[in-house]
Amino acid sequence: MDPEEIEALRKKKEEALGSGGERAIARQHDQGKLTARERIAALLDEDSFVETDMLVRHRSHGFGIEERRPYSDAVVTGWGTIDSRKVFVFAQDFTVFGGSLGEVVAEKICKVMDLALETGAPVIGLNESGGARIQEGPVSLAGYGYIFERNVRSSGVVPQISAIMGPSAGGVVYSPALTDFTFMVAETSYMFITGPDVIKAVTGEEVTHEELGGAMTHASRSGVAHVVASDDQDCLARIRYLMSFLPSNNYESPPFYQPTDDPMRSCDELLELVPDSPNKPYDMHQVIGCVFDDSEFFEVHQHWAQNILCGFARLAGHTVGVVANQPEVLAGTLDIASSTKAARFVRFCDAFNIPLVCFCDVPGFLPGTEQEFSGIIRHGAKLLYAFSEATVPRLTVITRKAYGGAYLVMNSKHIRADVSFAWPTAEIAVMGAEGAVNVIHRREIAESDDPDATRSELIADYRQRFSNPYVAAERGFVDDVIEPQDTRRKLVQALEMLRSKREATPPRKHGNIPL
Ligand code: HXC
Repeated sequence: MDPEEIEALRKKKEEALGSGGERAIARQHDQGKLTARERIAALLDEDSFVETDMLVRHRSHGFGIEERRPYSDAVVTGWGTIDSRKVFVFAQDFTVFGGSLGEVVAEKICKVMDLALETGAPVIGLNESGGARIQEGPVSLAGYGYIFERNVRSSGVVPQISAIMGPSAGGVVYSPALTDFTFMVAETSYMFITGPDVIKAVTGEEVTHEELGGAMTHASRSGVAHVVASDDQDCLARIRYLMSFLPSNNYESPPFYQPTDDPMRSCDELLELVPDSPNKPYDMHQVIGCVFDDSEFFEVHQHWAQNILCGFARLAGHTVGVVANQPEVLAGTLDIASSTKAARFVRFCDAFNIPLVCFCDVPGFLPGTEQEFSGIIRHGAKLLYAFSEATVPRLTVITRKAYGGAYLVMNSKHIRADVSFAWPTAEIAVMGAEGAVNVIHRREIAESDDPDATRSELIADYRQRFSNPYVAAERGFVDDVIEPQDTRRKLVQALEMLRSKREATPPRKHGNIPL
């Protein structure tokens, strides 16, 4: 190449850096948002970004689009590092055709997804787009298909993370839905399949963009968003933090961080935590905060299905996935949303070699016609399926109630948990004392001269027999009854023992989880 050609190329690259023009970039900043390249710079380690396809331009015609062919088009793609570990990234550029997806945008995204799969590295997609590029017609739709298929092929092979960082309408919402974790930025982002105008025309309902598809809507109502961030910088920092818990692919173990927190530390705060009355709630966050390294807990779906807690923590420096009933919300019962939430989390952990630690305090499934009519049977079965099929090390601590079918679901020994501990406050039974007595002693109570006194006596008798962990321990259904303050060290020891766990599964194409 002669120097003139090289200079021309350099100019094209400069042009590409300001793809959408100054006005569009200023609009982006005025709305409190970063540009695509600024986002990538904030996400990755300093100066680690290597851009791909910077000189790509669309080759479409019609509707005047042929007159505007900015370099890079509407997405910035490439790879770099987070904490020195390789990741692939694409960031849609809203300043170019509203970040809409045409042929070359899809080609650029597919190229990094293919590289990620071939080299075993996570893919992080930063989304902000008006969806399928209208001017390019079915070519844009085809582009989405190519991406979706790659999302599915990569699922369980490399972690896939999505962030919604601005308007995201139409096709752009389905790739995030296929990925493992979706982050949303509060107030500046929204996502929906059909927008407020279409909804009003079809159903007459009036709803704002924010109400319909804002971050809190998806984080607390639909369950589409796993994490809400306060702004772009916060979102990118949280993605970096999540990455610290994850392996790069399904052949690797998660990263190990030399613990500064003593693995044998006693958890004295847990001694008085469980109230005497079985009907009194307590906050399971306190258990998690006390047991794991440095009280770190990256909670996913913090605002949705809060009767179960899911998230990542570290035990003696190793990542674990935590699933815990939350007695503070709906008494910790399992319902449709919590079963779905936890099942997907368990499957992610199993796919990526992350051991599971389960805390059980569950009085049963949430009763009610709404739950039954909406299919609690098939949705509850998801969590049962997910725990049962998981081959990673699986540990359970029963802190209080472990009643009926919900006890079985919550990673019980009967569905092949490796190690199960019970606190002395544990009650492993078919159901709670009051319910049980009303069923099995109904006639005796009705015929008694003093039904209340008889009921109380029978309840006390039942409690004596079943509201404890010892009947189950005698059978080996729990491996040990441990003092709450020993929970951390017992889990550390068990996890260390299980580090070399290998479990073969029968050959099959795939199982058929009740979806
Ligand atoms: C081409 C688009 C576009 C699109 C936006 N733009 N969406 N260009 N195709 N899909 C352009 C606008 O023309 C404008 O160009 C620029 O992007 C910025 O858009 P604004 O409307 O000015 O921005 P804003 O007010 O912030 O509104 C953002 C928006 C709105 C809510 C996303 O643009 C919008 O409603 N877009 C259309 C959404 C949509 O219906 N998409 C098709 C979905 S169908 P200029 O040149 O003026 O700056 C689909 C099917 C896929 O995706 C199916 C696969 C499963």
